[in-house]
Amino acid sequence: MPDTTGNLTEAVVDSLGTTTDPRLRELLTALTRHLHAFARETGLTTAEWERAIAFLTATGQHCTDTRQEFVLLSDVLGLSMLVETIGGDSGGPATESTVLGPFHMTQSPVRALGADLDLVDGGEPCVVSGRVLATGGTPLPGAVLDVWQANAEGFYDVQQPDVQPPGNGRGLFTTDTQGRFWFRTCVPSPYPIPTDGPVGELLHATGRHPYRPAHIHFIASADGHTPVTTHIFVAGDKYLDSDAVFAVKESLVQEFTETDDPSLAREFGVPNPFRHARFDLVLQPS
Ligand code: BEZ
Ligand code: FE
Repeated sequence: MPDTTGNLTEAVVDSLGTTTDPRLRELLTALTRHLHAFARETGLTTAEWERAIAFLTATGQHCTDTRQEFVLLSDVLGLSMLVETIGGDSGGPATESTVLGPFHMTQSPVRALGADLDLVDGGEPCVVSGRVLATGGTPLPGAVLDVWQANAEGFYDVQQPDVQPPGNGRGLFTTDTQGRFWFRTCVPSPYPIPTDGPVGELLHATGRHPYRPAHIHFIASADGHTPVTTHIFVAGDKYLDSDAVFAVKESLVQEFTETDDPSLAREFGVPNPFRHARFDLVLQPS
């Protein structure tokens, strides 16, 4: 049967010609062409499209102030990671970026260097330390580090308002005069992304597991430099090769080394021995 729908695509694209914002016109035109090509290629039926609309409707209905099901959908389809990599990959020696995720939704509390993020003493104590540097290696004093992580059971504070105080696992730090940062926390655990909504249904229907490898989130920023949104992943985690949101980059995997050093433990205010992750965050001049 001849394809009589080609004119339809062109008619829609022509209708976008009056869009005054050129970037919006470009995006809508490409979206129209790709959506139409998808429907043609798959022979999409009315029943299937209605099912897809019901799925997207339910996705919207699952969004609240503390839950973003659309971000989650973008994450499990790999789109968040693709967009982050297109926009955030400096291509140079700067720290690689990865997804923001849906749990950076509350302001992290300002904390002094050395503070403990684990307000309920829920897990294996560890120290995270390093420097924020420019790509040439110059330390960046006064750089700001926004940090957030799930607790040792794999839940963020906003997921357990009855168990965790607001701000548990979160901190906003400023590097010292030598660009250094350090804080205490608990070793993060792998955790499942929320599966009690439409995204969970999608994972179930496709036989995929919902787990993310253990990680700590960071946004590092400094005057005159491009901020980076990233994680560090705990080396050896069993989900590093199958992250539910495709966000692992090899350069971001860090050892959380078992450290037996009583004087260092005293300096950091942790029991000896302790786990210690050391790494630098490197920012590109803007
Ligand atoms: C997170 O790491 O917080 C996250 C990222 C993507 C989807 C769900 C959670
Ligand atoms: Fe996370």
